[in-house]
Amino acid sequence: MSKTFHVAIVGATGAVGLEIMQVLERRNFPISKLTLLASSRSLGRSLSFGDQKIVVRELNDSAFLGVDFALFSANGKISQKYAPIAREAGAIVIDNSSAFRMDLQVPLVIPEINGADAKQHQGIIANPNCTTAITLMGLYPLHCAFGVKRIFASSYQAVSGSGAQAIQELEQQVRSIGKGESVEKQVYPHQIAFNVLPHVDAFLDSGYTKEEMKMQNEGRRIMHLPQFRASVTCVRVPVYRAHSIAVSAEFEKSVSLDVARSVLMRAPGIKLVDDTVSNLYPLPLNVEGKDACEVGRLRLDCALDNGLAFWICGDQLLKGAALNAVQIAELLAH
Ligand code: A2P
Repeated sequence: MSKTFHVAIVGATGAVGLEIMQVLERRNFPISKLTLLASSRSLGRSLSFGDQKIVVRELNDSAFLGVDFALFSANGKISQKYAPIAREAGAIVIDNSSAFRMDLQVPLVIPEINGADAKQHQGIIANPNCTTAITLMGLYPLHCAFGVKRIFASSYQAVSGSGAQAIQELEQQVRSIGKGESVEKQVYPHQIAFNVLPHVDAFLDSGYTKEEMKMQNEGRRIMHLPQFRASVTCVRVPVYRAHSIAVSAEFEKSVSLDVARSVLMRAPGIKLVDDTVSNLYPLPLNVEGKDACEVGRLRLDCALDNGLAFWICGDQLLKGAALNAVQIAELLAH
């Protein structure tokens, strides 16, 4: 009989947690038991998994008894406190927060790029930042062909990246504006409906945000490329769940559009959508709910030597979070 696993989801009631449940079910992850963990606010709730109703339990020190895989998607503080407890209890932790991404003892993994790193784990594996993961899905195959030196990029990030409350905030603001009422803000410092905010995550002394620096810092680890440089502006847009990134990349070798296209056509987890004659290019609405990221608008960059510009969209809750986490668990389960 093939092996089955006791899986726990920390933050099961959140935007990413709910998606993890769906991905586990859709991909038939071999589960013997599913434990759903959240805060005391969720006590009494139960969630559907297949034909079962599973009662949500409160996260506490003894929640990980007998757990094989603990998928964390609450927040960094919860991961910092409970991931070591889960590991001590014998679980392999796959963490969606940024708590361990720069810890050299913790592999930071995109299975299509550095899946082998996952096998070196010491009980905790980090899932990359969503914008970084989606960008690297397009950039890494191009790097393998041409050798990337640096990128300039702008992101167009969906509100789902800020959690379930932010999705409600956008819905609520659109409704209020439709009725001519004033908008309420809780998650974002400014109105997000019919607006764009050049502000994702906290500002650093350099003027960049933490989110913007993740592309360089995490990109170096994932691609095993310590010299990689990335100058990024991250922008929150009133889109529900898929992120888009406009990238200008500079490479060591000269770039050919034909080679770039054929490389991207063969790359795993990527779909080339690039037919400007027919107005076909990736759109965040079109990648919602899809595993593959879509890449298009390929052109030789007119301002860089050996440069290629492209546009990539990916479902932030899937490749940017839940799907990547489950793919990591699959790597270790087989
Ligand atoms: P809860 O629904 O009980 O608040 P999102 O990012 O979509 O806002 O989701 C965050 C997830 O993290 C939710 O499942 C939330 O549970 C969970 N969470 C937040 N704070 C805690 C906490 N102190 N202990 C356990 N789970 C938490």
